Amino acid sequence: MTGFAPFLLLLLVIGCTARPLYRLPSQGHDGSRKPLQTFRPYNIAHRGSNGELPEETRPAYLRAIEEGADFIETDILSSKDGVLICFHDVTLDNTTDVANHKEFADRKRTYEVQGENITGFFTVDFSLKELKSLRVRQRFSFRDQQFNGKFQIITFEEFITIALDAPRVVGIYPEIKNPVFINKRVKWLHGKSFEDKFVETLQKYGYKGSYLSKDWLRQPAFIQSFAPTSLVYISNKTDLPKVLLIDDVTVPTQDTNQSYWEITSNKYLDYIKQYVVGIGPWKDTLVPVVNNYMINPTDLVTRAHAHNLQVHPYTYRNENRFLHFNFSQDPYMEYDYWINKIGVDGLFTDFTGSLHHFQEWTTNRQDDDNKSESKLLHKIALLVSSYKKP
Ligand SMILES: *[C@@H]1O[C@H](CO)[C@@H](O)[C@H](O)[C@H]1NC(C)=O
Ligand SMILES: *[C@@H]1O[C@H](CO)[C@@H](O)[C@H](O)[C@H]1NC(C)=O
Ligand SMILES: *[C@@H]1O[C@H](CO)[C@@H](O)[C@H](O)[C@H]1NC(C)=O
Ligand SMILES: *[C@@H]1O[C@H](CO)[C@@H](O)[C@H](O)[C@H]1NC(C)=O
Ligand SMILES: *[C@@H]1O[C@H](CO)[C@@H](O)[C@H](O)[C@H]1NC(C)=O
Ligand SMILES: *[C@@H]1O[C@H](CO)[C@@H](O)[C@H](O)[C@H]1NC(C)=O
Repeated sequence: MTGFAPFLLLLLVIGCTARPLYRLPSQGHDGSRKPLQTFRPYNIAHRGSNGELPEETRPAYLRAIEEGADFIETDILSSKDGVLICFHDVTLDNTTDVANHKEFADRKRTYEVQGENITGFFTVDFSLKELKSLRVRQRFSFRDQQFNGKFQIITFEEFITIALDAPRVVGIYPEIKNPVFINKRVKWLHGKSFEDKFVETLQKYGYKGSYLSKDWLRQPAFIQSFAPTSLVYISNKTDLPKVLLIDDVTVPTQDTNQSYWEITSNKYLDYIKQYVVGIGPWKDTLVPVVNNYMINPTDLVTRAHAHNLQVHPYTYRNENRFLHFNFSQDPYMEYDYWINKIGVDGLFTDFTGSLHHFQEWTTNRQDDDNKSESKLLHKIALLVSSYKKP
């Protein structure tokens, strides 16, 4: 024991000096924060509480944390000068006031993004300083407009400090967004890629560890992407759990040009499960919709579970226009269906507060005990499967 202490001390010293000095300050916690719940499906706050506040802004994430989010979700893109930012669209047009900025009028461009020519103001043509001079606005006209023009775009690092400063353990769920496009348009020093910068940022703030490991439970994170090659590429750089997003049945993967049918086949699930702990499909592909009525569920959730993969579908939204007629215009009925009938493991929601209330009001404690047993079994199965990696 005593012979070990100097070695431990040395490790500590190395650990501290290796830590970059320019890490953003966070308040720091004494380790006594309420832990992440792991006995029921995850409440994933899609772009923050964006049903109420402009998406991917600090207030939207703070609201989501107040409302009970297990994870705050974000899309990572880049500025022209290579700073990773939280922003969904490759263009600024639909969710900022860029059109009102005369000084940027000459920045409009047309680029090909995922096989489509898009014209607009692209984040990759603006420095971080310029992006910070813009203000975000609500995407949908039928949502609250009073906060338009009030909040800035935030960086990936600012997003991370919001989670680290939360009064309880709140996970992060960042997406490697449009990697093919970003790697084409933005260059980093020493030939680093977008994916390298993405992982380095997580590591800088101490994010590491496989699903449900001690490190992971301290700072939970899922890494998501629609691009399988990005997830496979980073698998050697971080053991954080990864989730493969799956688009509509008509959309091929942006990097490997594979069809929906190919990437949801049993053969592909066998392959990708070496790299990911779950899939994130669009819910309307899991239970197809005709005339706004849902028809028979597909077998994808069952097959994914049989492959020991979690399923985190997107996106749950309260408004009538998004609710299928089967749910009597009641978002709680929708949650009940997906959680209790389909059995998903996490839900991307625009209204974290509603999902949280639903779960608080419907999960009874005896149930919890039984679910934690099945979670334990799930954890053991995951540990065993990780030894089967080539
Ligand atoms: C995009 O525009 C360029 C230039 O006009 C053209 O060469 C290219 O074929 C277009 N791509 C698509 C997908 O339409
Ligand atoms: C803005 O949103 C509309 C509707 O979703 C879309 O058709 C359009 O392409 C978007 N504009 C830009 C520049 O991305
Ligand atoms: C991971 O590293 C191993 C050993 O260096 C290498 O053989 C393998 O190709 C790498 N995998 C990926 C996906 O880069
Ligand atoms: C992607 O695959 C489709 C169908 O196999 C093919 O028609 C298309 O040309 C491919 N696109 C690219 C960019 O390779
Ligand atoms: C939705 O409602 C329609 C019409 O009543 C019914 O045929 C269908 O089976 C329902 N879908 C589900 C998934 O329950
Ligand atoms: C939980 O499991 C116990 C013992 O297996 C069982 O008696 C009980 O009914 C279960 N509770 C619920 C709510 O399913």
